Amino acid sequence: MNTPDFSQTPREGTGELPAGRPLQTDFGTGLDYPRLGSVTFRRGTLTDNQEALFNEHWPRLGKVLTNETDEHIDVDAWFGRSGHPTILEIGSGTGTSTAAMAPLEADTNIIAVELYKPGLAKLLGAVVRGGIDNVRMVRGDGVEVLARMFGEESLDGVRIFFPDPWPKARHHKRRIIQSGTLNLIATRLKPGGVLHVATDHADYAEWIDELVDVEPMLEYKGWPWAEAPLLTDRQVITKFEGKGLNKDHVIREYLWEKK
Ligand SMILES: C[S@@+](CC[C@H](N)C(=O)[O-])C[C@H]1O[C@@H](n2cnc3c(N)ncnc32)[C@H](O)[C@@H]1O
Repeated sequence: MNTPDFSQTPREGTGELPAGRPLQTDFGTGLDYPRLGSVTFRRGTLTDNQEALFNEHWPRLGKVLTNETDEHIDVDAWFGRSGHPTILEIGSGTGTSTAAMAPLEADTNIIAVELYKPGLAKLLGAVVRGGIDNVRMVRGDGVEVLARMFGEESLDGVRIFFPDPWPKARHHKRRIIQSGTLNLIATRLKPGGVLHVATDHADYAEWIDELVDVEPMLEYKGWPWAEAPLLTDRQVITKFEGKGLNKDHVIREYLWEKK
């Protein structure tokens, strides 16, 4: 489980998060949003090779959400092509699913959002080595990235695979799946766009079960949904999913369509 280290000073192009308090938009909707709070970040270091690769390619493939970010991402310019669908994956971890799915959806722009730099570095390595050209990365809190870097009805899909379960009751408010996040995602999705969530945590699944119909702009489609207009097969068993499977956890998947 990772939470951001805001003590670092950002250096241009190095993928560092800004110093100071994390950005937390006041959405003023009366709905519930995850709050990162004053939690500390598990420090991860990059190997020298990863660092070199990261520094070489991050300026082209990555962006950091900073306090100065006040413009929406120009997706067409970033991917160097226009008219392609765009999917945002929040909490891509080490990017195992991201890198496995992307080549199967080459016509789609995939933007992976993650706070954890070593995870992004791993995905960046897979993207560069694999010659995958439809993946870009944003370092930042997915909620703020959605709110600040994307306009309304700009996304064809949002993926959240195995979000941190925050099992303790007093930490439930940190869970990313909440009424406010679902509302924010709904505003960012185009009509017909899809939200795909997966969890292997039984208690989190119960939590999501209670929220499937909470957002009027999202029509719950359940799982599987054969006519889903985007790839829903995650392709790989991730590290986290693998752990769940070993513990006999059941994987639950959820799909919604933006009305
Ligand atoms: C349990 S891991 C799952 C990673 C990956 N999706 C997988 O299936 O292997 C959850 C990830 O979400 C990231 N994360 C948690 N909250 C986030 C947020 N608000 N914005 C972006 N990433 C977040 C964590 O850093 C962590 O890497």
